[in-house]
Amino acid sequence: MKAIICPAYGPPEVLKLADVPMPTPSTGEIRIRVRATAVTSSDCYVRGLDMNPRYHLLARLALGWQAPRQPILGMVLSGEIDAVGPGVTRFAEGDLVFGFDRHRFGAYAGYVCWSQEALLASRPASLTHEQAAAIPYGGLLALHFLRRAKVATGQRVLIYGASGAVGTSAVQLAAAFGAHVTGVCGSSNVELVRSLGALRVIDYMHEDFSLGSDRYDVFFDTVGRRKSASALRKAGRVLAPGGRRISVDDGTPKLVRDELELLAELAASGSLRPIIDRIYPLEGIVEAHRYVSGGHKRGNVIVTVD
Ligand SMILES: NC(=O)c1ccc[n+]([C@@H]2O[C@H](COP(=O)([O-])OP(=O)(O)OC[C@H]3O[C@@H](n4cnc5c(N)ncnc54)[C@H](OP(=O)(O)O)[C@@H]3O)[C@@H](O)[C@H]2O)c1
Repeated sequence: MKAIICPAYGPPEVLKLADVPMPTPSTGEIRIRVRATAVTSSDCYVRGLDMNPRYHLLARLALGWQAPRQPILGMVLSGEIDAVGPGVTRFAEGDLVFGFDRHRFGAYAGYVCWSQEALLASRPASLTHEQAAAIPYGGLLALHFLRRAKVATGQRVLIYGASGAVGTSAVQLAAAFGAHVTGVCGSSNVELVRSLGALRVIDYMHEDFSLGSDRYDVFFDTVGRRKSASALRKAGRVLAPGGRRISVDDGTPKLVRDELELLAELAASGSLRPIIDRIYPLEGIVEAHRYVSGGHKRGNVIVTVD
């Protein structure tokens, strides 16, 4: 089968198209015919060991010393189950699924074997594979942190970085929870963020959110601490009494299947719109990684697997 392998840590060009043996599901595993995957910010961090050098030792221990131990990256997929291993009870051949596995990887390939316990749910019939692959990463992270911040009806929520994968999900989910959402993004994304349900959009190129008179119950940084350190410092100025400041980089969340199923329901009902910036074929993976590494994608970058 065709797959993209990552034989060394480095720039996007380390990724190579290869022919690799088809995986066989072992006990408790299912094999998924991958139709679409996503290039996430996390994929780029893993491929390039692109993180604070003080985490390199831990990252190499966890991921592989010279190169990723699992040479096929890819944490997100939408596809169909084409084989099940012994002891599989949750799924059957032919099931259409989408999901996320940030430990196992392997979705940059024609087929991948994941545990039946992975974060997988039925793909809503109204979504294409590409749309389904645009939901799990940003959706699960946004939902986790909005719940951690206890976002509720009527609260005023500021989403900092409202146009990325996490940001576009966070705006829509907070609005679906009944919050009054303000999004902060660059000029080219103002209309997009407004269309997702933000009542107010602050263009960070022309306005400093911290100088306004509005106050918020929750400040949610979806950009990540490396780039948002200054915004997080200034967030205190715009918090209402008792308001909370939270970042998508506050620890490694435990993500659960119930949350993916909720995202599937919201997407099926139209309350959560998958935002796709670009779609590449598997052969375009180097270009897709270059683009995502730039840090300014709108929503998600999808890769289709023929
Ligand atoms: N806690 C965890 O376990 C975990 C797991 C995965 C990811 N994460 C974090 O989640 C973050 C977001 O991921 P993502 O996929 O949503 O990222 P993304 O799609 O690349 O989005 C980046 C967003 O940040 C904005 N941005 C970029 N540079 C900026 C700057 N200097 N100042 C203000 N805004 C800026 C971009 O908007 P403009 O183009 O308008 O500037 C865009 O909206 C990652 O960077 C990572 O830190 C955490």
